[in-house]
Amino acid sequence: MTKDVREKYWSRYASHYDDYTDYIVGKTLRQALIGKLRKEKNLGDVIECGCGTGFFTRAIARNASDILATDLSEDMLDRAKVTLKRFQNIRYKKIDCQDILFPPESFDTVLMANVIHTIPDPHKAIHESYRILRKEGRLLIVTYTDFGLDFFQKSVLAMKFLARFGMPPPHGLKNYAPEELERFVQAAGYRVEEMDLIGDRPKGLYLKGRK
Ligand SMILES: C[S@@+](CC[C@H](N)C(=O)[O-])C[C@H]1O[C@@H](n2cnc3c(N)ncnc32)[C@H](O)[C@@H]1O
Repeated sequence: MTKDVREKYWSRYASHYDDYTDYIVGKTLRQALIGKLRKEKNLGDVIECGCGTGFFTRAIARNASDILATDLSEDMLDRAKVTLKRFQNIRYKKIDCQDILFPPESFDTVLMANVIHTIPDPHKAIHESYRILRKEGRLLIVTYTDFGLDFFQKSVLAMKFLARFGMPPPHGLKNYAPEELERFVQAAGYRVEEMDLIGDRPKGLYLKGRK
């Protein structure tokens, strides 16, 4: 599946992404995750991978020196520029998070919100994040998951997704279990400092890793 196809998939939803996601996962869960991110202080130079419309970017903007908000989709970046126009410390760039093209140790924090479970090569993306982080740099991952739901609850969630987005993105959507996400991040070299399972149906995973 080419990068172009994946970009087109997400670009198609740029103008409705937040409404659709509120419908599927609920505003309460998204706000709870925003609340977690707001508590992260002294983030330094941040790169966000897959910023989408900038929904989670705004939660960290006041605690970062500088943010490079990146996404595969130009349309998503255009939406983010509107959402985040009041912040002076945010720049924007089209980047594939599987191939970040920055020198090693360029950033203090990497944020990946709801991107790691949608991409073809999450291992490459997580190794890239490690490479571009400075020593003691912070990795913040947010990802929705149907972990812990029963068959009926998973079916309702899948139907809600289909009703808004239609087919899932190329390569599908992975639902991480908390321990699986921890192991995945540790295998790239990170120490896991925090792993929270938040919400009800569905839930969100919140992971803080340290290089
Ligand atoms: C599920 S949306 C999440 C958007 C936003 N982070 C949020 O949580 O509201 C996934 C985003 O990741 C972007 N994306 C998908 N694959 C990507 C890749 N390989 N590199 C960078 N961004 C990617 C999509 O364009 C989309 O904006």
